[in-house]
Amino acid sequence: MQIELEVNGETETFEASKSDSLLDVLRANGYTGAKRGCDTGACGFCTVHVDGDPTLSCVTPVTKAEGASVETIEGLGEQDDLHPVQQAFVDNTALQCGFCIPGMIMRSKALLDENPDPTEQEVREALSDNLCRCTGYKKIVEAVLDAADRMDVDRAVATDGGPPSDGDPPPDTAAGGTLDSGCPPGGCDCSGGEP
Ligand code: FES
Ligand code: FES
Repeated sequence: MQIELEVNGETETFEASKSDSLLDVLRANGYTGAKRGCDTGACGFCTVHVDGDPTLSCVTPVTKAEGASVETIEGLGEQDDLHPVQQAFVDNTALQCGFCIPGMIMRSKALLDENPDPTEQEVREALSDNLCRCTGYKKIVEAVLDAADRMDVDRAVATDGGPPSDGDPPPDTAAGGTLDSGCPPGGCDCSGGEP
């Protein structure tokens, strides 16, 4: 049979069997970020979002996703432009073999969408259905809390319309520096990039 799914904002038609899970169809069509671990709904490795809700794609019949909006880790960020949650996982070295990480990140993003300022306990509870066979939970929790801080800063900038401006460009962008480059006010000759 053919089934139409919206994946990462694009509507596509996929070949599928009636008995296929959402994970079967995603992975068969290149969305391999969702991992197949237990295939029984017990590990969380296959977590994607369906209409914004974290969903175990291995136990979700693909037919149930028809007409819904599916988001996979491929839809979050690019290699050179990671989503803040992805970047926080990288910067906190919150991964070992990495197999559980796409599911952890999708579950974490759903948490932060709903609760932008979670406590450590709330993060632990939200991730409690996602297993890490390398047992790297401490750094994963730290990464999610870090991501919450980063997204809070992003939101503040968006809400305020960016850095204060009284008609002049902000001081550290005036001479070629960028807000997060670490360049001194007034700029330097590094063009705003990393050394
Ligand atoms: S592979 Fe889906 S929960 Fe384990
Ligand atoms: S980093 Fe290996 S399973 Fe979690």
